[in-house]
Amino acid sequence: MQTIKLGGTAVPRIGQGTWHMGEDAGQRQAEVRALREGLDIGMTLIDTAEMYAEGGAEEVVGEAIRGRRDEAYLVSKVYPHNASTEGVQAACERSLRRLGTDTIDLYLLHWRGQYPLSETVAAFEKLRDQGKILRWGVSNFDVADLEELANPDCATNQVLYNPEARGIEYDLLDWQEQHDMPLMAYCPIGQGGALLQDPTLQRIADKHAATTAQVALAWVMRHPGVIAIPKAVNLDHLRQNAGADSLRLDEEDMDQIDAAYPPLARKQPLEMI
Ligand SMILES: NC(=O)c1ccc[n+]([C@@H]2O[C@H](COP(=O)([O-])OP(=O)(O)OC[C@H]3O[C@@H](n4cnc5c(N)ncnc54)[C@H](OP(=O)(O)O)[C@@H]3O)[C@@H](O)[C@H]2O)c1
Repeated sequence: MQTIKLGGTAVPRIGQGTWHMGEDAGQRQAEVRALREGLDIGMTLIDTAEMYAEGGAEEVVGEAIRGRRDEAYLVSKVYPHNASTEGVQAACERSLRRLGTDTIDLYLLHWRGQYPLSETVAAFEKLRDQGKILRWGVSNFDVADLEELANPDCATNQVLYNPEARGIEYDLLDWQEQHDMPLMAYCPIGQGGALLQDPTLQRIADKHAATTAQVALAWVMRHPGVIAIPKAVNLDHLRQNAGADSLRLDEEDMDQIDAAYPPLARKQPLEMI
C-alpha cells in the first residue's frame, strides 16, 4: 500500500471511513469484521467522529481495534458546538473512552462553528501536551479558513472530493500542496451512488479490469498529497478499495473523466456533505 507522511507518521493513502457505522445493532458484527479485515490488508487509517451515530461509530471502531491498537492510525473529530476550551477536552475524553484507547492519532475540528479558531487550537494543543491526541487538524475548511488559521501544526484538512465534486481543484488542493498539508478526501466514491453507474467510469474500469469504485479512488489519488477514506462494510467492496492502490489511470482516462465531469472554471463555495 502506498503511504504518505501525515503529521510526521507514515499512513496508507487509502483508509477506512465509518460514517453510518454504529447505527444498526444488527450490522455491528459485519462492521467490526470489515474494519478488522481492513487492518489486515493495510487500510490501517480509520476515520471516525463523535457525530457518527452519536458515538456509536467510535464504539464499533473501539471493538475492532481491541488488542490491535498499535496497528491502527485513529482519526476522530469534534463537533463545532463542542469546540470550546472545556468542550474540546470533554468531547475528546468521551471519544477516548468509546474508542478504548489513551490516544487519538489525529483529532479534527469537523467544520467551523461559533467558537474562535484560536480557542479550539489552544484546546487541541492542551490535549497534545496531555498525550490524549498526537496531532490535530481541520475538516471542511476552504482556503480563506486555512489562511485565517495560519498554523503550520495543522496536519490535514478533510474535504469532499470525487469526480462529481471538483470544487477544491480550483485553489484549495494547490494551496494544501504548497503548504505540504495532505488532503483527506471524503466521499471519494460518491457515497456509492450514481457515480459508480457512470458509463465513462465503467468503460475505463473495463479497460483496466477494475471496478468503477477503483477508478474513482485512483482518480482522487492521482494527486500525490491526497488520502482517500472510502467506507465499506461489504467485504468485496473493502477488498476492491484496497486494490485501487495499484490502479494507475492514463491521460486518455483523465481526459474522458474531464469530459464527463468538467473541472470548475471559477471559484465556488466549498461543498460539504
Ligand atoms: N469530514 C466530513 O465532513 C465528512 C463527511 C462525509 C464523510 N466523511 C468520512 O468519509 C468517509 C467516506 O465517505 P462516505 O462514507 O460518506 O462515502 P463513500 O466512502 O464515498 O461511499 C460509501 C458507500 O459506498 C459503498 N461502497 C464502498 N466501497 C464500494 C465499492 N468498492 N463498490 C461499490 N460500493 C462501495 C459503501 O457500501 P458498504 O458499506 O455496504 O460496503 C457505502 O454505501 C465517511 O465514512 C466518513 O468517515 C467525512
